[in-house]
Amino acid sequence: MKGGSFVSKLHTMIDRLNQIEREALAGLDAMRSSADLQNWKVSHLGRSAPLAQILDELRELPKDQRPAVGRRANEVKAGLEHAFAAREEALRREELDRSLSEQRLDVTLPGRRPNRGRIHPANRTVREIVHIWAEMGFQVYRSREVETDDYNFGLLNMPRHHPAREMLDTFYTTDPEVLLRTHTSPGQIRVMRERAPEPIRVVLPGMCFRYEQITARSDIQFNQVEGLAVGHHITLGDLKGTLSAFARRFFGQQVRSRFRASYFPFTEPSAEMDIECFVCGGIGCPVCKRTGWLEVLGSGMVHPTVLENGGYDPELFSGFAFGMGTERITMLKHGIEDIRSFWANDLRFLAQF
Ligand code: DAH
Repeated sequence: MKGGSFVSKLHTMIDRLNQIEREALAGLDAMRSSADLQNWKVSHLGRSAPLAQILDELRELPKDQRPAVGRRANEVKAGLEHAFAAREEALRREELDRSLSEQRLDVTLPGRRPNRGRIHPANRTVREIVHIWAEMGFQVYRSREVETDDYNFGLLNMPRHHPAREMLDTFYTTDPEVLLRTHTSPGQIRVMRERAPEPIRVVLPGMCFRYEQITARSDIQFNQVEGLAVGHHITLGDLKGTLSAFARRFFGQQVRSRFRASYFPFTEPSAEMDIECFVCGGIGCPVCKRTGWLEVLGSGMVHPTVLENGGYDPELFSGFAFGMGTERITMLKHGIEDIRSFWANDLRFLAQF
């Protein structure tokens, strides 16, 4: 009786082992990912898997029957481990194949053209202008963007409370004597003080800053190119001749220019140069506001006080100076309507040049 129950227990355990094997193998095929596969391993080969339970129960069998069940259990375990390894390998291949085909590189596709950078339109104009002046014998002098009140105003014949300061709203630093230059003209004093009493022919390109309302026509930063010639017999005729020659080189040989009397504290006399509108040829159009002329720069004979501040004796020396806003000129040249485009960093705008 007792023996019979053990025999049937033996059979039941063998049967359970067979069933465990069948179910585990059947389940294995359904595993589609390595995560699935790890779950399968835990539930069929793990410490609380049915197979482990059977091995625990071996103790309850008579000694002579344990080997048969034990052998079968080990067979099942080895079989499952083997199947697991095979399935794991198959899945690894499947996943590799899939990623290879999903991320396939088509080496016949044409390449993407790398984006070539180019010179910013504002800088391009500055370079063109400076290049022309260099050909006419003017050296390039780089002056500072952070200036003192004295250099930006005082030494240029604009003492404190001079009304001309009103037109130049200024960015001051926390030190009221230190500011961002509102024009490139303070560079004139710096060159003169460095070169006196030698004759001078220089151009000074650079960024200027004004504390202004930003609109389509004015921005708080812009480039200017300043020019200065100092020597023994420089006359207003030199100023007119030199600036007209520049206008022809920059705007075209046929372009006409004219000078209008004007006022700047640092020159006497002062003049503004206009060129014939190159859009309408002088007939009158919206670009030249129907006048036929475009204003391109301010100029004049260097004021005696300014020469003196630079270290030159106005009895022995004279000179002319000029200054032009280069974004304005670029806008005229290319029909750009909004000065803010220059610093907006919109590649669609910049790529047109
Ligand atoms: N500094 C003047 C401005 O910012 C431009 C200028 C006018 C410069 C006459 C000069 C000059 O050197 O002679 O508006």
